[in-house]
Amino acid sequence: MTTSVPLPRVGDEARAALFTDARTTYSFADTAVDDATLTDIWELARWAPTAANLQPLRVLYVRTPEGKARLLPHLDEPNRPKSASAPAVAVLAVDNRFHEHIPRILPIRPQLKEHFADNPAQRDAITSFNGPLQAGYFILAVRALGLAAGPMGGFDAAGIDKEFFPDGDRHSVLVVNIGHPAGPPEFDRLPRLAHEDVVTWA
Ligand SMILES: Cc1cc2nc3c(=O)[nH]c(=O)nc-3n(C[C@H](O)[C@H](O)[C@H](O)COP(=O)(O)O)c2cc1C
Repeated sequence: MTTSVPLPRVGDEARAALFTDARTTYSFADTAVDDATLTDIWELARWAPTAANLQPLRVLYVRTPEGKARLLPHLDEPNRPKSASAPAVAVLAVDNRFHEHIPRILPIRPQLKEHFADNPAQRDAITSFNGPLQAGYFILAVRALGLAAGPMGGFDAAGIDKEFFPDGDRHSVLVVNIGHPAGPPEFDRLPRLAHEDVVTWA
């Protein structure tokens, strides 16, 4: 018989902050979010799992007026005031050259670096699944630090990539506004699917 290893279970406050009470934010107060706090987001998010530990997501923080002026024209028009009000905006992108880190992040199989270098389709398979997966972890890390997140998929990815990633190695997948809400949520929470809608058993 094997014995189980006990794991910690988060309490009600953490569940509320991460899931049950957390709301998407569209309008932010002008309370600053400092660079140390933005750094802490990745210090948390980086520990969540990815396939073969390949970690293809990259983060660009846009928080200066100059940076905002470069970013906003590439957002869908209704999304521009949301990012304009956020003290920081994260552009989450996948790195098509993630394999170059393999000797450091997967030292038990360093030969995979050459394997992925020769297989762009397999690199795409890794980035297309694991990049958005890490973006989800990123949103939860924002919330874990007592900040509000406003994820947005409404933007011109090719335009952002050309503006911020001209080398062509990175492809933007999600824009996340970060800060403190300017007020209570503007509308009621939308319903979520129930257990019986979603879960089956075998
Ligand atoms: C991947 C993704 C893309 C989204 N894109 C947009 C967007 O372009 N514009 C917008 O206003 N909200 C966008 N949202 C916000 C969602 O509509 C919102 O998170 C969802 O309705 C849940 O809201 P709640 O957290 O307040 O319950 C996006 C959210 C996600 C996760």
